[in-house]
Amino acid sequence: MDVYLQREQTKAKHFILRRYLQALAFKVLRSWDVTYIDGFSGPWQSRTSDFSDTSFMIAIDVLKDAQKRILQDTGNLRHIRCFFSESDAVAYKKLENAVAPHRSVSGKFEIQTYFGKFEDAVEQIKNIINGNFPLIFIDPTGWTGYPFHKIKSIFDSDKCEVLINFMYDFVNRFVSSQDVNTIASLDPILGGAGWHQRLDQSLPRGAAVEKLFRETLKREGRFQYVISTKIDKNTIDRPHFFLAYGTKSREGLKAFRRIEHEALKEHARNRVSAKERRREDLTGVDELFPGYDAQQEATIDDVVIQQKKIAAADIRVFLAERGGVRFSTIVDFALQAHMLRETNIKDICLQLARDGFIQNTWGNGNRKPSDDTIIQPR
Ligand SMILES: C[S@@+](CC[C@H](N)C(=O)[O-])C[C@H]1O[C@@H](n2cnc3c(N)ncnc32)[C@H](O)[C@@H]1O
Repeated sequence: MDVYLQREQTKAKHFILRRYLQALAFKVLRSWDVTYIDGFSGPWQSRTSDFSDTSFMIAIDVLKDAQKRILQDTGNLRHIRCFFSESDAVAYKKLENAVAPHRSVSGKFEIQTYFGKFEDAVEQIKNIINGNFPLIFIDPTGWTGYPFHKIKSIFDSDKCEVLINFMYDFVNRFVSSQDVNTIASLDPILGGAGWHQRLDQSLPRGAAVEKLFRETLKREGRFQYVISTKIDKNTIDRPHFFLAYGTKSREGLKAFRRIEHEALKEHARNRVSAKERRREDLTGVDELFPGYDAQQEATIDDVVIQQKKIAAADIRVFLAERGGVRFSTIVDFALQAHMLRETNIKDICLQLARDGFIQNTWGNGNRKPSDDTIIQPR
């Protein structure tokens, strides 16, 4: 049985976390020791005896594997430190028991657990980062517990990455509330009191709050890029949460967009199955053609086609304002605003050149623009 049955959003979240760590940890470990921090560790709604369906065990598994492969490749045993905080006493006990066998002094695999609130562990977290590359995962059940004014110093290093589960569905239900306590509870992640005045008025309220959240994270954490991935609910076409990703490196930006694409394709397939199951439950009849809905769903490929059209128009405006710029600048610009990968931006440039809007400065045949190519409007 699929341990993620009826938890397809958690599956998508764990898929992104796993792929992200696989791609990133391996790269980072070539040059750095890594400190991995999971502020809201769980276990939470786990259905396995070995906790393989939890974020902390996924991280341990991937980081150990990356450490082993780096050792084989370079002969260098990198030091990996993990920090897991959990405030529920029962969950904490399970966490501590589950991670204990994975500690290894000789294997340079260190694990600290913390019983208490993530926001109270900042000093301990800074000690365990201690000049290493921090990868931080923040996955609360609501929107409280990670006030930026209290935790932002853990983002201080020049190299630092963060993934935050922004609980859009919860937030969206409350953003129009007039209750002063509810409004104040959002202050710590939206840049302080008076956040209503800072919302982008051209957007629906929920989307404007999500945007303000990313802008606040970018500023408070001094991240160069903050983007987010929308994860829809299982059986309803509505966002459940956004995974916000902050990085100080453009390689991170590019890698995350690739991982997101894979994850969303998989999530779309899982949602089709979840919707079919729901229909069967409601009607008591098996689907005649399981998977049929897949053709009716707006596939991720359709979304990419749509995003490419919007991005092409945005790039033309950008070039009209800026004149000729390096292709890497276009990639930075487009990947922050759109759910696209670098390869899509190359294709957009090819099409814009074919349509006569920009010059072909990269040559003919199979050639495509690369970072230093100057993209010149006609
Ligand atoms: C959504 S669950 C985490 C799930 C886990 N990251 C995963 O993907 O497997 C949130 C967890 O954080 C714990 N928690 C709630 N408030 C907390 C706080 N302020 N500090 C640390 N942990 C907290 C809850 O008990 C719960 O286990």
